[in-house]
Amino acid sequence: MTATKGLEGIVAATSSISSIIDGALTYRGINIDELAENATFEEVIYLLWYGKLPNRAELAKLQEQLDQYAVIPEQVIAQIKLYPAQTNSMAALRTAVSSLALYDEEANDMSEEANLRKAIKLQAQLPTIIAAYSRIREGKDPIAPKAGVSIAYNFLYMLSGNEPADVAVKALDQALVLHADHELNASTFAARVTVATLSDIYSGVTSAIGTLKGPLHGGANEAVMVMLEEIGSFENVEPYIQNALANRVKIMGFGHRVYKNGDPRAKHLQKMSRELGKLNGDLMLYEMSTKIEELVTGQKGLKPNVDFYSASVYTTLGIARDLFTPIFAISRVSGWTAHILEQFSDNRLIRPRADYVGASNVKYIPIEDR
Ligand code: ACO
Repeated sequence: MTATKGLEGIVAATSSISSIIDGALTYRGINIDELAENATFEEVIYLLWYGKLPNRAELAKLQEQLDQYAVIPEQVIAQIKLYPAQTNSMAALRTAVSSLALYDEEANDMSEEANLRKAIKLQAQLPTIIAAYSRIREGKDPIAPKAGVSIAYNFLYMLSGNEPADVAVKALDQALVLHADHELNASTFAARVTVATLSDIYSGVTSAIGTLKGPLHGGANEAVMVMLEEIGSFENVEPYIQNALANRVKIMGFGHRVYKNGDPRAKHLQKMSRELGKLNGDLMLYEMSTKIEELVTGQKGLKPNVDFYSASVYTTLGIARDLFTPIFAISRVSGWTAHILEQFSDNRLIRPRADYVGASNVKYIPIEDR
């Protein structure tokens, strides 16, 4: 038995949800470029869960269900108010999502209908949790979700209490489409491992959030913004990046385990970053980002991934840096739950082996002789 570090290249599940083949990403066989240009996030949620695009009636029903479940239990709001002031936003989300299970009578109901209903609840409630957390830490009251509007609209509305601009809703909606699913990424794998023990869907999504939090995965979008802030100006990009590369520091938002010729999602976010920058009359973050790309790709051959241009997009939308990774979770919960439902539909415990390299034939020494 020999281990493959990081399970690189190991095929660990059969799935019909999303694919990465020859550098192209599809959801249920539809290329991500087509979805990014044409689909709403709600259509994509339906596509991931049910395997086909919804017709108008099916989409309206999903919207109704999302509206029905978007309010979170007041006990969860009360708990968020008790979180320490410096709580990490992903730790807050992980804790609140775990708490949701305590107030859901069907949390441990493993029937297919209950699991699908819980997927809808989780999709509806994650944005409400994040917006409530954001307002509570600013000393403000949370804002109740609106009915009949998109998840992108509702999230921006619940953050500020103001009607969001169309352009902001459209940009966020497209970002949610782009982040919704990604084959057997680390957080999705974590979710599948958790529920393969026949644990519940809340436990699966809680594991996934904890996994997405790390800077080698979803946490990279926040780390990109930290880097842009540290760099501070266009003039400082070159010395900063040269120094980082010379010291073998990882440049956040670059590289990918699967894509070696570029992440197909990055170009959409780059375009969005440029368009939003233009509209805002401030292209500095966009120009700094393209300069970083030129240097990192030119010198290391590494291409930007989905997280790189998300940072300038979300900042231009006026979103706080530490909400970037939670926004990723608002989107990816659609994929996590689709994978959890798929795992349940044909489950087998996920239990690999380890290549043991420790000592052998070691004798037990009584404590008084050690
Ligand atoms: N900056 C500089 N060098 C890098 C980077 C980077 N961003 N990414 C990879 N490398 C280098 C490594 O230092 C290593 O070089 P070496 O062989 O000379 O030591 C080589 O490329 C291979 O890197 P690994 O980390 O082994 O590649 P792996 O496939 O394990 O990692 C990962 C992929 C984690 C995404 C990596 O590229 C990385 O850390 N990127 C930065 C973090 C990031 O952006 N994560 C988001 C990924 S997308 C997502 O999860 C949504």
